[in-house]
Order: sequence, then C-alpha cells, then structure tokens
Amino acid sequence: MRVVEKIAEIKSIVRSQKRTEKTIGFVPTMGYLHEGHMSLVETSLRHNDYTIMSIFVNPTQFGPNEDFERYPRDLDGDLKKAELAGVDIVFIPTKEEIYPKGYKTYVNVEGITNLLCGKSRPDHFRGVTTIVNKLFNIVEPDKAYFGQKDAQQVAVIRKMTSDLNLNVEIVTCPTIREDDGLAMSSRNAYLSEKDRLSATILSKSLFEAKELINKGERNREKIIDFIIQRINTEKDAIIDYVDAVDGDSLEQIDFLKGNVLLALAVKFGQTRLIDNMIIACE
Ligand code: PAF
Repeated sequence: MRVVEKIAEIKSIVRSQKRTEKTIGFVPTMGYLHEGHMSLVETSLRHNDYTIMSIFVNPTQFGPNEDFERYPRDLDGDLKKAELAGVDIVFIPTKEEIYPKGYKTYVNVEGITNLLCGKSRPDHFRGVTTIVNKLFNIVEPDKAYFGQKDAQQVAVIRKMTSDLNLNVEIVTCPTIREDDGLAMSSRNAYLSEKDRLSATILSKSLFEAKELINKGERNREKIIDFIIQRINTEKDAIIDYVDAVDGDSLEQIDFLKGNVLLALAVKFGQTRLIDNMIIACE
C-alpha cells in the first residue's frame, strides 16, 4: 500500500492506472476508521481494480464552534486497517496542500443544504461539496463510496455530481451498526459510558417508528411525535431535529408515501449524533 501526501504524486499514479484501463474506486474519509468505513472499502475492492482512500479532516466543513480541533485522529491505526483491508493507496494531504494560502473557491449546492442538518450547520455542506469535488478532480474515480448514515451528505453529493456532470458514480452503502443498534461513527468515541448507553434510543426509536409505518401509519406528524417522545425518555438527549422527508429530494411531505427518509440529529453533552432510516411506503 502506498501512502501519498502530494496531489501531483497521486495524479501521476492515477494517470498511469488509467492508461492500463484500471477502474478506480474511491473512499473519502476523515479517518478514525471503523467498520462503517471498512465496509465502504470492501465494496470498492469488489467493484474496482484499484481502491484509493483519502484521510483528511476537512476544516471547511466544521463550523467555528464545532469539533475540528478535537476530532478523533489515529493515523497509524488507520494506515494499518487500510493496509490489512487491501487498499492500494491512502491519500493523506496536509491542510496546506488542499487549501493553499489565498484559496478562494467553494462549491455550493443550493436548497437541500438548508434543510435538516443544514439548519444548525449552515456552512457544513459547502465544505463537504468543496472537498469532495476537489478530491474527485484529484483522484478521478470511476465510483465513489459513501455511507447511508450520512443520508443528507449523500443526497447533496449526488446532486452536485449530477448538476456538474461529474464522471463518477456515487455508490451508497448501508449504515453499519454496533450490536446494540447505535450507528457507527467516529464521533461515538466522544460519548461517556452513560451517554453511550442512552444513545441507543436513537436507533431504537427509528426501528420502532418503522414498525408503526409498516403497520400502516402514514401521518408524518404522528411518526415524528412518536420518535420525539421515545428520545425524550432519555433525559440527557437534546433533540436538534427529527424529520420525515422525501428520500430522494429531501422535501417536506405531509403523508408518508414512496421512499421516506426518517432522519434525526440529537446531542448528548457536546456530542451531536445523527441517524436515519429509509422506508419504502406504498
Ligand atoms: O463523511 C465524511 O467523512 C466527510 O464528510 C467526507 C465525505 C470525507 C468529506 O470530508
């Protein structure tokens, strides 16, 4: 496995792989790898001749009072995991390599970035689309892999890819959960033992809401109220939002119909967790 820091070097490797018509799969990450990331790698390895992973804690997607500085980092551990999994190249650029002095260009998807997480994280998706677009230009992947856990991120990246006619196929992989249902996330590392236990209410409430929907409930308000009530049984949970929206456009719906995305963001102490579920409603 090669570890590359410079854009010029990775571009030259990509060029030589393309010359031999190898397909390139790309797994962009911010590191602190867990089984969720590794499932993206496994899928990329199955689909492609060559798999590139990036590890870059992207400063532009963090708000001024967010956790950029304390975001968990473990480069040595990550490189071991990537090598064991069979990744071909890990790209670990510095902040200066990606955003040199005088950097001024940002990519912004309008509309859907103002909903759900966008309401409390106003510039977050602008940072995500900027870095993902830059990484796509650097790595030129045939396919790029993202987790369903970040449902809005995937929707925003799909929109950018289609609006800007990018030559990459976006592949969404299922959310990987701990045995007790908590969606895997690098941020779970922040949780105290007590909050870690309380946080299982997020997936529980989504699975229970799914059962209600499967039994025929189609009223959006009732489903949202149900999830809110379940989460509020944990007194340390502070709800940012709970919503039920169209799974493709993320637009508001009155009645649950088609592909519905149940999505939530909840804080335990300083740790903001997200989770979601897509449910096919007849
Ligand atoms: O999902 C993430 O880890 C990040 O948002 C991404 C896609 C790597 C961009 O920094």
